[in-house]
Amino acid sequence: MSKSLPYSRIVGTGSFLPPRVVTNDALAADMATRQIETSDQWIADRTGIRQRYLAEPGVKTSALATEAARRALADAGVDASEVDLIILATSTPDFIFPSTACLVQANLGNKGAAAFDVMAVCSGFVYALTTADCFIRAGRARCALVIGAEVFSSILDWNDRGTCVLFGDGAGAVVLRASDTPGILAAQLQADGSLAGILSTAGTVAYGQVTGDPFLRMDGQAVFKQAVTVLDRSARGVVAEAGVSLADVDWLIPHQANLRILTFLARKLGVPLEKVVITVDIHANTSAASVPLALDLARRDGRVKSGQLVLLQGVGGGFTWGSVLVKM
Ligand code: ACO
Repeated sequence: MSKSLPYSRIVGTGSFLPPRVVTNDALAADMATRQIETSDQWIADRTGIRQRYLAEPGVKTSALATEAARRALADAGVDASEVDLIILATSTPDFIFPSTACLVQANLGNKGAAAFDVMAVCSGFVYALTTADCFIRAGRARCALVIGAEVFSSILDWNDRGTCVLFGDGAGAVVLRASDTPGILAAQLQADGSLAGILSTAGTVAYGQVTGDPFLRMDGQAVFKQAVTVLDRSARGVVAEAGVSLADVDWLIPHQANLRILTFLARKLGVPLEKVVITVDIHANTSAASVPLALDLARRDGRVKSGQLVLLQGVGGGFTWGSVLVKM
């Protein structure tokens, strides 16, 4: 890309979790009332998850996204009116249309910014961030709000213990600005639609009715194997593109699906676990929100510092995956 084009830089982050914390024990007790057996030990041993945040029924993705966006704008010291692009990644939009990005735009009082949703499930945030980077580098936008937000609890079958224990709700956001110095150093997005069936919510609304299955279904072992393989390959690809090595990366922030996936991945990449930001224990899997939630948490607790190299990675339904290497 021409050197005369601006780079893009993350200048603020924010996140929001619904207030209701549900521990594994509380979830197991609730499921027991429906004669479904699970336990804190099973969930923690297989996934590392100890608790999740769940939105109250009726709370929509746009509400979580708006709060995360407000916090990111405040962190960046940017007024909502300066934003000229809003990209929101979600698989649980408020409506079929308008997009949740437009609803957030209205909540923020912004008029005129381009606003649209990106659907790449748990890879959604890295897809959205890469898209915003392309807009800025092409000179089509100067200040972007990139959000990952989900009320994933709304598409879970609470009678399917193989999936409902894995997920939570939340939102994270970043403000991305045109800059003379590079922030986003390299990005790679990929997909393999032939694997659509291993992770899907295959229902829809048509002809006035829900048709098909409105709940998330997953082949957990197939997802596990794919996730580790593609995240490993993608991490190596993106650092090579940037001309750095994995040892130069200060923080690895992969999608937070499962502690065992994170541990396997870190081992495969030769990255010490101390350099991996882990939130799956407290947030569970929040799909498109997981990476910006983890980034914001690690910035706020002082781990991720200005000037450091951070590797963000998404993987999920589609099958989709991608990596973005960022200089903070
Ligand atoms: N509590 C108790 N028992 C359970 C539960 C539960 N919540 N869920 C499943 N089981 C039982 C099953 O019924 C089965 O019992 P059976 O042997 O009597 O038939 C047994 O546990 C083993 O079930 P599996 O599905 O084979 O369990 P597995 O060891 O594969 O673990 C898991 C499941 C944790 C989902 C695993 O496959 C995994 O880590 N997959 C990775 C995928 C993932 O994390 N997906 C998240 C979303 S995808 C994404 O974000 C990219």
